[in-house]
Amino acid sequence: MTDAIQSEFIFALCNPGSETALKLEVACGGLAWRSGYQRRGFVTFKADSEFSLESLDVQLACARRLCLSLGKFATREDAAQFIYQKFPSGTLIHHARYFERKMQGIHHDAPQASVHYGNLIGTVVELSPNEFWAGIHRHGRFLSPDPAGDPGIVMSADSPSRAWLKLEEALRFFDLKITSADIVVELGCAPGGVVLALLQRGVSVIGVDPAKMADVVNASAIASRENAPLGSPWFFHCRKPAALAAKRDLGQGVTWFMSDMNQSPEVVLKECARFIAMAPTIRGVLITLKLTDLSQVVDQWKWFETLSALSFQTIRLQQLSAHHKEFALLALK
Ligand SMILES: C[S@@+](CC[C@H](N)C(=O)[O-])C[C@H]1O[C@@H](n2cnc3c(N)ncnc32)[C@H](O)[C@@H]1O
Repeated sequence: MTDAIQSEFIFALCNPGSETALKLEVACGGLAWRSGYQRRGFVTFKADSEFSLESLDVQLACARRLCLSLGKFATREDAAQFIYQKFPSGTLIHHARYFERKMQGIHHDAPQASVHYGNLIGTVVELSPNEFWAGIHRHGRFLSPDPAGDPGIVMSADSPSRAWLKLEEALRFFDLKITSADIVVELGCAPGGVVLALLQRGVSVIGVDPAKMADVVNASAIASRENAPLGSPWFFHCRKPAALAAKRDLGQGVTWFMSDMNQSPEVVLKECARFIAMAPTIRGVLITLKLTDLSQVVDQWKWFETLSALSFQTIRLQQLSAHHKEFALLALK
């Protein structure tokens, strides 16, 4: 039944400021979609034929959420009512709004019902006090479970940097399980927001960065891999530029490669390939790519090619709500 859902329009929710890059991504991706009505963080698209739920399966790094559009309404209640009437059985409704210059998910105090792959989810987006849009999508792998792809995570008060938030958002968006059985190597680890988030999750980290770490992570620092305690997460600081790190700095058993270096994608991916050659046990890659201009998103095919050549089968690029000119690049074996 639901596979027959069709609409003339798709709408995308994105970070305000990413609308042009999103349209460029659509054009360069060979999608015959034409952009139409647009507001900050909200872009509609039309095509020659109607869209179906399957049309939403495209990968667009700048879109935090893609929905089949069900139209515009004057109130939130009207929009929600329309969704419930059209999809009466078990449809969840997410609420989002453009507020304080952000496209935000609305999170209520009561815990939200968890979403499962295959669930139909309605979205009501408030663009202004009398402009509400209703949309529908189906939840699936590598799609955020949160309204407007915004988890509303509040940063840990102890964190020395916003990188804590970016990592937590990426883990939630992609539904990644990194556990105490993993060892992560992170390039560009100072001052230590990512390291702190991982330690809090019980994950041990080898951090590579010539810069100083914050005391909150140095409290878990070990002098060498040989001194690693059993049963509690540790942090080993390899205090040098990534290009000077060697196999003996990594030791055995590294399972994840992460990078948050403020370097070009080419430099980061070159180091990624070198680290994977030094530690073939790496099975996952999570990189915060920092771009000088968001339009560089159209170079994504080059980054995907590099990761494919390293035998990664599943590759995703995604802008998160905590990002500015950044993207999370994920690769899994
Ligand atoms: C945005 S900060 C990283 C924030 C960090 N991940 C955190 O969780 O707090 C970028 C870091 O990249 C480091 N960096 C830049 N180039 C590097 C290189 N070639 N090798 C290692 N670290 C590098 C800088 O020293 C800086 O500390």
